[in-house]
Amino acid sequence: MTSPTNATSHDGRVMIRLEELTKKFPGQKQNAVDSLTLDIPEGDIVVLVGPSGCGKTTTMKMMNRIIEPSSGRIILDGEDVTSSDPDQLRRRIGYVIQQIGLFPHQSIGENVGTVPKLLGWDSKRISTRVDELLEMVNMEPSQFRNRYPKQLSGGQKQRVGVARALGADPDVMLMDEPFGAIDPITRDRLQNEFLRLQSEVRKTIVFVTHDIDEAIKMGDRIAILQDGSHIAQYDTPEQILTAPANDFVADFIGKGASLKRLNLSRVADIGLKQLPTVQLGTDREGVMAALRQTELSAVLVLDGEGRPLRWVGAEDLQRGGGRPLDELGLAPEAAVEARATLSDALNELITARYSITIVVDSRGVYQGVVDIDQINDAIRTMRSTAVAKARESLTDDSMAEQGRLP
Ligand SMILES: Nc1ncnc2c1ncn2[C@@H]1O[C@H](COP(=O)(O)OP(=O)(O)OP(=O)(O)O)[C@@H](O)[C@H]1O
Ligand SMILES: [Mg+2]
Repeated sequence: MTSPTNATSHDGRVMIRLEELTKKFPGQKQNAVDSLTLDIPEGDIVVLVGPSGCGKTTTMKMMNRIIEPSSGRIILDGEDVTSSDPDQLRRRIGYVIQQIGLFPHQSIGENVGTVPKLLGWDSKRISTRVDELLEMVNMEPSQFRNRYPKQLSGGQKQRVGVARALGADPDVMLMDEPFGAIDPITRDRLQNEFLRLQSEVRKTIVFVTHDIDEAIKMGDRIAILQDGSHIAQYDTPEQILTAPANDFVADFIGKGASLKRLNLSRVADIGLKQLPTVQLGTDREGVMAALRQTELSAVLVLDGEGRPLRWVGAEDLQRGGGRPLDELGLAPEAAVEARATLSDALNELITARYSITIVVDSRGVYQGVVDIDQINDAIRTMRSTAVAKARESLTDDSMAEQGRLP
């Protein structure tokens, strides 16, 4: 089951291939990155996640050769770039560094225009591009262009960091904890903005975090790394949550994997349940007939357009003494659209009067309902699919384990 935000491009062209990439820093006993082999598919967000010091930043910096590998190869779009001109390479790869790293003595406009300037664009073209990029990350150019980094909030700096990395429209973006160190609400908003932006620009993105929830939300694929950038598991968020490859991964995910998994499926992905409904204006007999057919103690009344109006039960009818249906019963507050996640649906369901979440389309027209049994079924299906897939890849070969796409 693949949700829209996690749609992996299964045509599977590899944009970056790391082959036995290794970094040993002078004077260090252990390799910071130890023979990492990893395929990064074009147009996907691949998240590297792992504990502090496991080698995430070093891995990223080798991809654009800010750090030179001790051994191994980097293949970019089919071309071995392990020893090509690093300046050329960096123009094709945007980089959002850990701690944002804006240049403090340059204006926001100059910061965002860094790469276009390096490329020798004329000033008119640069300023047009800068404004375009600032707009992309929801920052009004006239308001922010001439400010300096210290005059921005943390979230705004993060956005500028993203805009700067998109400067010359690179094929690849490396993002090292781009939304670290900001409050959870702003972070959530930046993540959503970024996913929306990505759905338009479709870059190949390598994204580092040490937060598993962020990895699940942002990643088409997740590589869970241990010390030395050893891959503990490289897979879709669904697979990782449902069939963790080993104890390290299970520990890393922590408790609540089932709840996290509900964030990955959409209401649209499961079959909705149909309950009897009645139109506004249906007579008492008609409502009673519907009530006899439904498993609930109330029936949903729809308006002329098919939008939910009220829950009405037998007692409401009695007490109502002939008043119209839209003046009886309860307002149906728990409703979600089909693109909501199962997690959203569950949230509504828990507080809803009849332990049911109503599903509507974008115009508010009733589509069906979700109840707890369906959510349970969905979890069970996800689990058995994931276990079956995990078994398949075990019997296939060890490519997936090594970071190669199955
Ligand atoms: N320039 C350096 N010289 C020596 N050792 C280094 C250097 N840079 C990093 N290391 C070591 O390499 C290992 C990997 O560091 P790296 O910065 O890649 O970790 P990380 O996974 O990004 O961690 P964090 O989540 O804390 O950012 C660490 O043990 C670190 O101490
Ligand atoms: Mg790091």
